[in-house]
Amino acid sequence: MARALLSQLLILSDRPPRFSTSIIGRRRDLTRTRGAVPSRFPLLPGSDFRCNCTASAPVAEAPGVSPSPIRKRVVSGVQPTGSVHLGNYLGAIKNWILLQDTYDTLFFIVDLHAITLPYDTPELLKATRSTAAIYLACGVDPLKASIFVQSHVRAHVELMWLLSSATPLGWLNRMIQFKEKSRKAGDENVGVALLTYPVLMASDILLYQTDLVPVGEDQKQHLELTRELAERINYLYGGRKWKKLGGRGGALFKVPEALIPPTGARVMSLTDGLSKVKIF
Ligand code: AMP
Ligand code: TRP
Repeated sequence: MARALLSQLLILSDRPPRFSTSIIGRRRDLTRTRGAVPSRFPLLPGSDFRCNCTASAPVAEAPGVSPSPIRKRVVSGVQPTGSVHLGNYLGAIKNWILLQDTYDTLFFIVDLHAITLPYDTPELLKATRSTAAIYLACGVDPLKASIFVQSHVRAHVELMWLLSSATPLGWLNRMIQFKEKSRKAGDENVGVALLTYPVLMASDILLYQTDLVPVGEDQKQHLELTRELAERINYLYGGRKWKKLGGRGGALFKVPEALIPPTGARVMSLTDGLSKVKIF
């Protein structure tokens, strides 16, 4: 059953979305996948971040983009804090700008991750917009990269649910970020989504058969979990036994690699050298 559902989802989202969003403005092409249909996220009433999704034929690559048809795929996201700081700039965004010339790049604003802790809806909407503006201001180019809001692509949550059913609880309980954030938020009161946060992140990545994930060092453990989950699903639902049953066999998911920069992977706060910088 799970295998059938996974196959269905993967067939639908075999190609990455090419979105034009109302925040970003013009996008080059919209080879929209049937599975990855952006939609308004119901938890965010009043959101006007809907993608202007109309299918169109792929257009020629932007100048400066490698013409190779088999470019590796790079996927990454940042939470909508609406501000850039030395940490997420050096740890992630700066590297995206270099990568967009060589790789097939998808960069999104992870608004669904942002609701794992208490949030204010109007603030979140504003921050989502500002974060998109920051991407552009830093040099992420919508002619080279696909830029979108995570909640606009329903397949992220759909795959997350399927992956959750194959994720051992023990793996999630070990996550350092969960332990830290739940302690700060007062353990008993934290939402379950804070625990399952890494499964959504795995879904963000595995959905697009990603090769490389540029992140700061704090995300290394989540990336490791993503890799283990991909291998587990490939073992459980891939391979010859499924081919015999009419499936496509082989691996269902590509096992992605983390791309952690040699410098700037962990920028510490200037006021507290023991914790990572949060705000500029
Ligand atoms: P965030 O702003 O927390 O959503 O993080 C976005 C990206 O920036 C992720 O890839 C993080 O690993 C990276 N990042 C955030 N803070 C730091 C930091 N202090 N040092 C290095 N990378 C960071
Ligand atoms: N969890 C990451 C962070 O807090 C953000 C994120 C969500 C992400 N999904 C992702 C990063 C997929 C890379 C790929 O920084």
